[in-house]
Amino acid sequence: MKTALVMLLAMLTSSAFACTLDGCDHPDCGSCGGACCRLSITIPESTESVMNKLNASIVAGGPDGLYTPMMTAEGTLTFGDLRPYGKPIDFIGQAVHTTINGVYNDTVNFSLAPVSENETEVMAFSISQIAGAYCDDGQNYLNILQLVEGVKWDGGELDLDQVSHLDGSCPDPASSLKK
Ligand SMILES: *[C@@H]1O[C@H](CO)[C@@H](O)[C@H](O)[C@H]1NC(C)=O
Ligand SMILES: *[C@@H]1O[C@H](CO)[C@@H](O)[C@H](O)[C@H]1NC(C)=O
Ligand SMILES: *[C@@H]1O[C@H](CO)[C@@H](O)[C@H](O)[C@H]1NC(C)=O
Ligand SMILES: *[C@@H]1O[C@H](CO)[C@@H](O)[C@H](O)[C@H]1NC(C)=O
Repeated sequence: MKTALVMLLAMLTSSAFACTLDGCDHPDCGSCGGACCRLSITIPESTESVMNKLNASIVAGGPDGLYTPMMTAEGTLTFGDLRPYGKPIDFIGQAVHTTINGVYNDTVNFSLAPVSENETEVMAFSISQIAGAYCDDGQNYLNILQLVEGVKWDGGELDLDQVSHLDGSCPDPASSLKK
């Protein structure tokens, strides 16, 4: 009975979120209360270069045309420059991604920390804005991954070795608990 209910709920939320593209394979089921995804991505370029490339993609709508840049507290679009303040990170930013059916918005927050002169750790966190998002069909993972994969990096295509999970959110398909 309980299992049937959980399955029905999963089916309902699946059709509601409808992430059906390639890469919608990291669903998150309540890891942060709702649905979210937290990833770290290492890029062998300076924080400024990474920021400019991510910003250029986001202001153009991102790879699927569904990203909207947000105004930051620092007064610049998409990213704020924290370098004058001597913080551990150089840039902080935000975009909103709208699902392909135009119904749901997710917030994606970024921080860009220098690992060395030409290496950046991108911390990205995507979260479903709607209350009661239990499982997201992998939408939050996709929001981050398709964006960083869509950028033309100096070192070539993004390798999944550059991506790591920092917590139990949006787990890899192999490690997810299949109900
Ligand atoms: C992001 O790109 C837009 C459009 O080119 C620009 O107006 C904005 O200043 C850029 N943001 C930063 C932090 O450079
Ligand atoms: C989703 O975000 C877009 C872009 O910021 C905004 O125009 C729209 O009103 C938002 N929709 C909802 C339901 O929050
Ligand atoms: C970082 O990249 C710049 C531009 O390509 C280069 O001039 C510089 O030598 C690099 N720094 C290091 C530490 O590799
Ligand atoms: C992203 O930032 C917004 C506020 O700007 C906040 O509502 C949201 O919870 C943040 N999410 C994460 C996961 O950092």
